[in-house]
This record gives sequence, structure tokens and C-alpha cells, in this order.
Amino acid sequence: MTEEPDDRETIEKIRKLKEALGERLIILTHHYQRKEIVDLGDFKGDSFGLSQRAAADKDAQYIVFCGVHFMAESAEILSQPHQTVQIPAIEAGCPMADMADSVLVERAWEALDQVVGAAKITPMVYMNSDAELKAFCGKNSGLVCTSSNAPVAFDWAYSQREKILFFPDQHLGRNTGNQKGFKPEEMIVWDPEKELGGNSPDAIKKATLILWDGYCHVHTRFSVAHILSMRERFPDAKVVVHPECPESVVQQADAAGSTSFIVNYVKEAEPGSVIIIGTEINLIDRLAREYPDRKVLDLHNSLCPNMFKINLRNLLWTLENIGKVNVIEVPDHVKADARKALDRMLALASA
Ligand code: 13P
Ligand code: SF4
Repeated sequence: MTEEPDDRETIEKIRKLKEALGERLIILTHHYQRKEIVDLGDFKGDSFGLSQRAAADKDAQYIVFCGVHFMAESAEILSQPHQTVQIPAIEAGCPMADMADSVLVERAWEALDQVVGAAKITPMVYMNSDAELKAFCGKNSGLVCTSSNAPVAFDWAYSQREKILFFPDQHLGRNTGNQKGFKPEEMIVWDPEKELGGNSPDAIKKATLILWDGYCHVHTRFSVAHILSMRERFPDAKVVVHPECPESVVQQADAAGSTSFIVNYVKEAEPGSVIIIGTEINLIDRLAREYPDRKVLDLHNSLCPNMFKINLRNLLWTLENIGKVNVIEVPDHVKADARKALDRMLALASA
């Protein structure tokens, strides 16, 4: 995308405000942000890296988070009391995160307690969730995970209890279960609309992994047919996908991992190589521009409309109203329990 004269003016204004705020401001950007937003940020990363960065920063007074709401909310939970977290577009949500809420999860938990006893289950919530679900995990000896640490989070959970209730993304859960060598019958899907999630008591007793029936519409657009057709056109290509893709797509790919994993995969590929990527299009476009000596192609064009809600204009508006607009707030009692679940995840990285 070429910059319009209006964009150049907006960028100039943003740069001046950044300069004036100096070290009092830090702009965090997720890998799926538009190029012009990433260029203006101080740190870019996957959702795990961004949460680590938010937890580590004790100096900046203002954290402006260019990503979706659950990410900014996690930064707020991990931030210091003197810090303010703002998001340029408050309406930038995540439909997958909305597929589980605390009423539905509490109901599932009670039902599971009746069948097998909650003491046998670790609740594990994907970062893509609201603060109340993280708090639920904090209260019930569970934890948060992201796509970059799901395997270690699983190991920790199984060292504590014999089963995991994983929500809301069934695909990340199943792909991680496959990586751990689980048999299909050990993984059941919990449909919150149905009695016992649509399972028999016996199936629940036998299950090791209970997967919430949620998914990301950006990643379930990719199919095996896309991979087969790209492999036909580019026989030497490597295919790398995000683990929010369906199991069949992950199994046909050469590698799967978080957005930072994908960034490193391209970085480490030989010049001249062909890499086909199954994830959000803005990241793929940016990688194609950054590595012109490699052929970086999309498996299929899939955009996250919520990530795309952050733009130069609302970033400028946020900086013009620093500390005042679109401030993320989490009630103290939710924050304390949610922080426990996030801290358990962060501790795994440094263990
Ligand atoms: P990462 O944790 O890999 O950055 O992914 C976040 C996300 O929302 C993917 O859809
Ligand atoms: Fe949510 Fe999917 Fe967008 Fe990630 S890509 S923020 S999971 S809708």
C-alpha cells in the first residue's frame, strides 16, 4: 500500500507526539497490524512476547496497545498501578474470544465436577479470552497459554492434574494434543449449548483433553485443498501455518507455530526459498516486503478485520488524548486472579 499525502501528515504528527512524550510512552504492536502501525511502534511481537514486554516495562507511564482488546486487557493486568493502557480502537475485539464467557464456563465446570470431580481438571485458557476467564483459571489452579507456549503449558497442567479443560480455541487445543501424541478418543469437544457439552459421562471420564467448541474465522478459512494446489504450483515450497488452523491443515503443513515462530521461520529460510504461509495477511505482506530475496506467499488471503480497525487516524487521536481515551480498565478483584493465571504462564517461560 502506498502512503497518501494525508497519511504522511498523520505519520509526522504521530512522530512529533512520540518525541514529545519520550520515555513516558511505549507503543506495542502485534504482528498482524498494518505496516504503517508496526513502523511507528516501539516493540512488535506475538501475543506472548507482547505480554512479557508489558510485564517487564516498569517505566513508561502510557502503554498504547495496537492489537485486539484481549491483548490490551492482558497488558493492563500485567502493568504497574501507575501505568495506563490504551487501545486506539476500543471496538477491536476477537470473535473467538467471545465464544466462551464466564457463565458458560462456570456451567461447564459444574457439570464436569458432577461427572469426574473438578479436582481432576486443570482449566487452561487461551490468551484470546476476556479477563474474567483468566481470573476463573487463576482461582481454580489453572493458567493462561498462547500459541507459542501451549505445549509447555500442557506439560505443566498434566503434572498437576489428569485432565485439561481448554477454551476457547478447539484447534490450538487439538493440534497441541496431537503434538503430545494423544489418540483422537482422548480429546472430546465441549459444545456449551448441549447437555454435558454433547458428551456421554463415559466419554468425559475417558477424555484427557476437553476442548471448547470455539474457533478463529480467520484461520479456519485455510483448507487442505489450498495446500495441495500451492504445492502443485511450487513443489519445493515449505508451508508454515498458525496452530489456530484446523488439524487437517496443520498436518499437511511443514511447520506450525505462533506469529513469532512464523516470522523466525521466514528469517531463517535460505535466500531463494519459497515459503507459503497460512495466517493473517498483513503479517504475510510485511514479511514479503522485508525479505525480497525469498518468495513469501499467502496460502489464501485472510484478513483479521478486528486487527485492521487500528489505523493511523485512531493512533494519532489516542496520542493526542494520552491517558484519557479508550483506557482499558479491569476491576481489581478480576485483575488479581487473572494475574495469577498469567503469572503461571510467564513463570513457565523462565523455568
Ligand atoms: P499469536 O499468539 O501467535 O501472536 O496469535 C494471536 C492471534 O490472535 C492469532 O490469531
Ligand atoms: Fe481473534 Fe482470529 Fe483475529 Fe486472532 S486472527 S485476533 S484469533 S479473530
